[in-house]
Order: sequence, then C-alpha cells, then structure tokens
Amino acid sequence: MFSKAKFFLSSSQFSHTQPIHTLLSSPLFKSLLPSSVRIVEVSPRDGLQAESTIVNTNDKIQFINLLSKCGFKTIEATSFVNPKAVPQMSDALEIMSNLPPNCDHISFPVLVPNIKGYINAKNANAKEVSIFTAGSDTFQKTNTNCTIDESFERFDPIFKAAKEDGIAVRGYISCALGCPYEGPVSPSRVVHLTEKLLEKGCYEVSIGDTIGVASPGTVFTLFDLLSKANIPSDKLAGHFHNTYGQALANILVALNFEIKIFDTSVCGIGGCPFAKGSTGNVATEDVLNLLHSLNIKHDIDIKKMMVAGEFIRSKLGRKETPLERALKIDHPYFKSFF
Ligand code: HMG
Ligand code: MG
Repeated sequence: MFSKAKFFLSSSQFSHTQPIHTLLSSPLFKSLLPSSVRIVEVSPRDGLQAESTIVNTNDKIQFINLLSKCGFKTIEATSFVNPKAVPQMSDALEIMSNLPPNCDHISFPVLVPNIKGYINAKNANAKEVSIFTAGSDTFQKTNTNCTIDESFERFDPIFKAAKEDGIAVRGYISCALGCPYEGPVSPSRVVHLTEKLLEKGCYEVSIGDTIGVASPGTVFTLFDLLSKANIPSDKLAGHFHNTYGQALANILVALNFEIKIFDTSVCGIGGCPFAKGSTGNVATEDVLNLLHSLNIKHDIDIKKMMVAGEFIRSKLGRKETPLERALKIDHPYFKSFF
C-alpha cells in the first residue's frame, strides 16, 4: 500500500507514463476520495465582482434565481464592501431583498470585510456571512487596507455579533498558495490562519488560490500540512482559480485529502479586482465533469446549471466554455452526464 505522499512525490512508484485510469482505480486513490461533494457556487459574488461590464440588478436577480433551481446548497450572493472599491457589488441590498422565494434549503452567504459590512448584511437579512483574510500582508492591505493581524481585529466584533445573532460565519484565506506581490506563501502560515479562523468561530475555511498560481505539488504540500495539523477535512473548502490551467488538477489533489467542499463559478467567470493577473474561478461545469468521472455525488442538475451559465455569459458578452461547446455535440460519453 502506497502512502499519499509517495503517490505524489515518488515518480518511481507511479511514473508520469502511467495511464490515468490505472491511477484513478488504484485502491489508494479511490479509497481516499469522498463519496459526495458540496459545491459552493460563487459566481454572483466572486464571479461578477471583477467583471468590468456592470450587470444590471434585475439580471443578477434572475441569474441567482436560475442558480437556485440547480441543486446548489450554497450560492454566494453578493458582498457588502465599499461600493467605491467594488462598484459591481453596490446593489447588495437589492440583491438580498430579492432572493428567490421558497429557498430555505439554500444558504446565500455574503462577503463582509468589517463590522459595517456585517451590520448591513444583517439588516439585509443575511443568514450567513463570509469574512476574508489572506496569506500575505501586502495582498490583504491592497484588498482591504489592513494587515492580516488587523483583519482579525476587524473580525472580532463580527464573531461576537454573529454568535448573538445566530448568523453563520465562513472564512476565506485569499492568496493561500501564492501572492501577486510577495510570491510564495508559507504553508505553515496558512495552517496557523486556518486554525485561528476555526477557533474564533468560522464553521469552515475556504483555502483560496486567488491568482491561480497553485499546482498539484504546492496544493499537496499545503493540504498535507493542514491534514497533519489535524484540521478536519470537512472544515476545509478548496477555492481554485484557473489562471494557469491547473485548477482541476489541484482539485484532484484536494479530493485525495478528502476535501468535500469546492467553490466554483459557472462558465469560470471570476477574479479579484485587487489581484493582478487573477482570472476566472474554476468553471462549475468542468468540476462537475471531473466529479462525474470519479463517481462522486454532487446533486447539481447540469442542464439547469448550463441555462444559468448561458444567461450570465450572454450578459457579460463572454464566449461559451469548451465543455459547454462539447456538450452540444451529441457525444455518447456525455449522455450519462445528464
Ligand atoms: P478602509 O479604507 O479601511 O475603510 O476600507 P474605512 O473604514 O477607512 O472607510 C473608508 C470608506 O469606506 C468610508 O466611506 C466607509 O464608509 C466605507 P467614505 O467616507 O470614504 O465615503 N466603508 C464601507 N462601505 C460599504 N461597506 C462597508 C464599508 N466599510 C467601509 N463594509 C474596506 C476597507 C474593506 C471597506 C475596503 O477596502 C473595501 O471595501 N475593499 C473591497 C474588498 C473586496 O471586496 N475585495 C474583493 C473580494 S476578496 C476576494 O475576491 C478573494 C476571495 O474571493 C478569495 C479568493 O478568491 O481566493 C475572498
Ligand atoms: Mg476567488
């Protein structure tokens, strides 16, 4: 029996010429994969925030409505940040006032940077907020005008109020696998930040490769360290961007550490306005294709999801994704997908 580390680190055990299906069906690989995954659909917030085309509020509402029919249990709806910093999110209140009806089974978290954002979110009837720190001070400062330590000072009143108000708090660590300003980020720092967010009251922490520079080797190192620190895998989410085309490979590595929550975005829209070079989040449809091939349950209706994707893509004037294009071809492989 090979250990996880050997699987990834020893090329003599599994050479790169090993057929992928042999690797996937090896007892080692299969036994560590989760049987189901929860997708956190982040397109209405992380997807839209960096788009220069301002989508009108009614279209965003319709988009969230379409997404609510797809089976997602979590849809990140918007953010309560300074509208001068992120104009696309300036309609957060209207978005929250027009969430789809009869959707108590779906959580609609909103991103908040400080207590002001939290209060606005609470007044808008949010049941869940997401707070965000980063793996590097330079990024955190560029993003939110405070250091990592100062971000925790801003979180303290949020944790206190959220506990009293019964509002769930999700944590993000942006640039956990690389910073556009400082370069590599220390994995042990990310472990420490994850522990701190969980201790303070986050119910889960999303490990963000905000600029999409991670690759299977660096993802392995980080998730191995998180696992050795005894952070339960069900408290962690993977948040990958696809700048260098490594997002799916990175998810495969994270799945191997039994990570069961992934943040994705239909049509791969997304990015961060404060992260130079950050392109889209990994596309939800591509992740579903990967999960489908591994027989991992996800509960998403891909046809309905593609309707939502096509809708927002048309509003942004974006081209269809390679998988969307392929699904329109009557390929026998995809028949089992629907
Ligand atoms: P600051 O300069 O420290 O705040 O900004 P301040 O308290 O000094 O206030 C400055 C101004 O902001 C004031 O307005 C405040 O009222 C206003 P003014 O008097 O100048 O008109 N303000 C607010 N307005 C609305 N909502 C608020 C709020 N707070 C202050 N909550 C702040 C701090 C964080 C607010 C600002 O820098 C900001 O909004 N930044 C935007 C951050 C952001 O949204 N970044 C993108 C999301 S993070 C991301 O994408 C990464 C992630 O997805 C993970 C991944 O991808 O890996 C999470
Ligand atoms: Mg992101």
